Amino acid sequence: MSIILSGTALSTDLATIRNSSTPIDVFRAAVHRIGLHLAVETSRHIPSKEISVTTPIETTTCSVIDGRVVIVPILRAGLGLLDPFLTICPDASVGFIGLKRNEETLAPAEYYRNLPPSDSATTFIVIDPMLATGGSMTATLGLLRELPHQRIIAACLIAAPEGITRIQDEHPNVLIVSAALDRQLNDVGYIMPGLGDAGDRLFGTL
Ligand code: PRP
Ligand code: URA
Repeated sequence: MSIILSGTALSTDLATIRNSSTPIDVFRAAVHRIGLHLAVETSRHIPSKEISVTTPIETTTCSVIDGRVVIVPILRAGLGLLDPFLTICPDASVGFIGLKRNEETLAPAEYYRNLPPSDSATTFIVIDPMLATGGSMTATLGLLRELPHQRIIAACLIAAPEGITRIQDEHPNVLIVSAALDRQLNDVGYIMPGLGDAGDRLFGTL
């Protein structure tokens, strides 16, 4: 299943990050705000449980997050979404997967992995701005699927139809939340219209 966000404030920020003339500080701030939209929508799909809470007036029942949340940014561009997700899920743990796409083959190569322990109540939220061929996301989902968990959610800024289809085929139980769904990939694996290379634009390595 996939959810594509909508809204005027969101699409205004998407226009900002797509614009190749946007300066890096403005780009980062817009990514942060879109990340908040994504984190709020993603949080609606974290499993919950009912607990009893005593207010100064009476005892009531409240719905709260069930189990541990582990946010997994795919290095390096996923770091651009980490802060907004931690704003919405402040007690989440953070696990790291470092992947770099080979620009010839488009296959991701892993260079780092550091994940906290998980159990059958854990929700993994994988964050990466770009879902292009889906190679980086499916590699990450493949290794998380082998770990104990309750739910896995993938969140991105911009998805290509090719990436969504690949995740739905290979990981049908994973919910995809994206701020935009673009037209298609070009012949070198970049999303059209996209925003270019997310890592380069976030970290000034253009
Ligand atoms: C980018 C992006 C995704 C990946 C998407 O990362 O951040 O991780 O490409 O492409 P895919 O869906 O075809 O796998 P990149 O490998 O360029 O590394 P970076 O984050 O270090 O810039
Ligand atoms: N990675 C990016 O950063 N941008 C794309 O368009 C595709 C992969």
